[in-house]
Amino acid sequence: MQDVLPEGGVIRKLWIGEAAKYRDHLLRLDADSRHSRFAGGVSEDFIRRYAELSNTLDAVLYGFFLGGIMRGAAELRPLGARFPRQAEAAISVEKRWQSHGVGSALLRRTLLTARNRGFRLLHMACLANNQRMQQLARKFDAELSFDFGNVIGEVESSRPTPLSLMREFMADGHGFATAMLDLQSRMLRA
Ligand SMILES: CC(C)(COP(=O)(O)OP(=O)(O)OC[C@H]1O[C@@H](n2cnc3c(N)ncnc32)[C@H](O)[C@@H]1OP(=O)(O)O)[C@@H](O)C(=O)NCCC(=O)NCCS
Repeated sequence: MQDVLPEGGVIRKLWIGEAAKYRDHLLRLDADSRHSRFAGGVSEDFIRRYAELSNTLDAVLYGFFLGGIMRGAAELRPLGARFPRQAEAAISVEKRWQSHGVGSALLRRTLLTARNRGFRLLHMACLANNQRMQQLARKFDAELSFDFGNVIGEVESSRPTPLSLMREFMADGHGFATAMLDLQSRMLRA
């Protein structure tokens, strides 16, 4: 299925060394979005350390870029050796670009990656009043169960297939090419 994104926007995986882009995106979230993203109030210092750590934790990060600036992110993090087929996902989109299909496109990409990594269960922790995230998860047939005021959406991902691996490969190839073009045009302008 083709993603519908704001004009000029692209989604691609983050490279090693791009932690600052993720950090700056998270720091730009408005107060409500920040609260929803982290299921509670967190400080700027927490976000700085969080972004740094995410880059070292075997996480797969996708960014939504517009004009070279990261305006949305999806993070997929394995739960570790004790839960080898489970991962946690988190999504954030800056307010100006919310409700334009970016969250759906980021989640679609994340589900594809989860499937290709062999994850069967994806945890998405969000506050019980986060209707938007719940609606978004429902679009991908999430099953929702309630726990201590938080909603845990669990998406069963199907097995990887050659086609799903190819789709991820092609999506990343496109992201890489676009990032290179973006880099080249910025170098030409400099
Ligand atoms: C939740 C979030 C990631 C959704 O991203 P988005 O780019 O706004 O999502 P989309 O535009 O793809 O919309 C996804 C679905 O959400 C619902 N939705 C969109 N805008 C909405 C609104 N204003 N009110 C209620 N539901 C809405 C719709 O069901 C929509 O699907 P549809 O367009 O097929 O009808 C984004 O709002 C966000 O970053 N919120 C703050 C951080 C957060 O809550 N993260 C989740 C915690 S893990």
